Amino acid sequence: MRVTVVGSGYVGLVTAACLAETGNDVVCADVDAAKVDRLRRAEIPIFEPGLEELVRENQAEGRLHFTTDVAEAIRHGKVVIIAVGTPHEQDGSADLSQVLAVAREIGRHLNEPKVVVTKSTVPVGTSERVREEIRKLTDHPFSMCSNPEFLKQGEAVNDFMKPDRVVVGVASDDARDLMLELYSPYVRTGNPILFMDIPSAELTKYAANAMLAARISFMNQVADLCDRVGADVLEVRRGMAADRRIGGAFLFPGPGYGGSCFPKDVKALVATARQAGMTPELFEAIETVNARQKGLLLRRTLAALGENLAACAIGVWGLAFKAGTDDMRESPATPLIEGLLAAGASVRAHDPKAEHNARRIFGDRVAFVGDPYDAIDGADALVILTEWLPYRTPDFDRMRQLMRRPVIIDGRNLYDPARMLGYGFEYSGIGRGRA
Ligand SMILES: NC(=O)c1ccc[n+]([C@@H]2O[C@H](COP(=O)([O-])OP(=O)(O)OC[C@H]3O[C@@H](n4cnc5c(N)ncnc54)[C@H](O)[C@@H]3O)[C@@H](O)[C@H]2O)c1
Repeated sequence: MRVTVVGSGYVGLVTAACLAETGNDVVCADVDAAKVDRLRRAEIPIFEPGLEELVRENQAEGRLHFTTDVAEAIRHGKVVIIAVGTPHEQDGSADLSQVLAVAREIGRHLNEPKVVVTKSTVPVGTSERVREEIRKLTDHPFSMCSNPEFLKQGEAVNDFMKPDRVVVGVASDDARDLMLELYSPYVRTGNPILFMDIPSAELTKYAANAMLAARISFMNQVADLCDRVGADVLEVRRGMAADRRIGGAFLFPGPGYGGSCFPKDVKALVATARQAGMTPELFEAIETVNARQKGLLLRRTLAALGENLAACAIGVWGLAFKAGTDDMRESPATPLIEGLLAAGASVRAHDPKAEHNARRIFGDRVAFVGDPYDAIDGADALVILTEWLPYRTPDFDRMRQLMRRPVIIDGRNLYDPARMLGYGFEYSGIGRGRA
């Protein structure tokens, strides 16, 4: 099938590459000329396992093309997928300017009947607004479709190729048939394509992300209580997870969720609910708890070393908002490090993938090291932010020798508190019963 993807960010690029992989003839358009140049050379601007190979192979096979000519790209596809950004406005609502700009481009360049798909995460009613924008500019018939994307950064290719489900909001049979044809290769093991009305598809994405974020905030509050009453959150989690109605996924406390999706999508859900006349107390609490959680590791560090860190060196392991990605958008590492610097500390940080993004934020205010042990040489504390695999079983004796003070504040509960005590560390995890 001839497919156009507008936007070559996380979602657009993965979508374009994975659709090309199953034989579609895909054109991916972006207004960022430098990005398109790099993509043509199969240089991937983000770290995402498996993506570079897919992009290289499918370009070489002639099934995947990158262009800055959005008009030409729109003329190409029978299906035109909108996958541009939807950042949040000051009031939390989604900024739809990129999506509506693409809608107008589609309206100007529609040359045959097409199915227009909103894949960007957009509030209820946006597909209708996109339809209206296009309709103002063309007489060609077209169908709208909402197809929110559920991929996880770090596992994006796998998630697209083997989705738990595909959600498709449609209002016409031709759109339904085309989407069924497009997605059938990815659901051969029986996972469902869930067809529904367009508003329900749009809301499903927000509800799903808010539920995942809620589980994290819920466990962060349970962990807080564990610390206060001497319980171990990992035991509590085990007991909860054995209940099949609850399950074990997304029940890990940590330094607060980040990334480009959960924070903005929960805010946008709150804004949508308010606009609809609701008082969304529960949705709001998800973000309130998360904002507080993002300050926890700094509070712990100050409690361990004192408010003035002028003479202190702090090692930080992990900068990305989660393992498997180089993305630092809304990462809890940013407020932590800003807080440490404001308290006078010198900070040495390690991350296997996110250093280039961290340099953009901190410049030379932070020393970046290529070896995690260099981050703790002479350090007064180590703070662990990201659950990267190489941090899981380090050489504790070597760490103990390198550090000036043996303080470890572990935002990911990577280690066993009793063993850490045995190694001579002052160790605190999240919710491990620290008074
Ligand atoms: N990142 C994720 O993990 C994820 C997962 C699911 C859904 N989403 C949603 O998908 C959407 C895209 O997210 P992303 O992370 O890929 O965004 P992104 O910011 O990484 O990429 C957006 C791209 O669109 C391009 N663009 C902007 N305006 C354009 C225009 N008029 N024409 C052509 N290109 C244009 C930008 O140059 C950029 O390359 C968002 O709505 C997001 O919420 C993201």
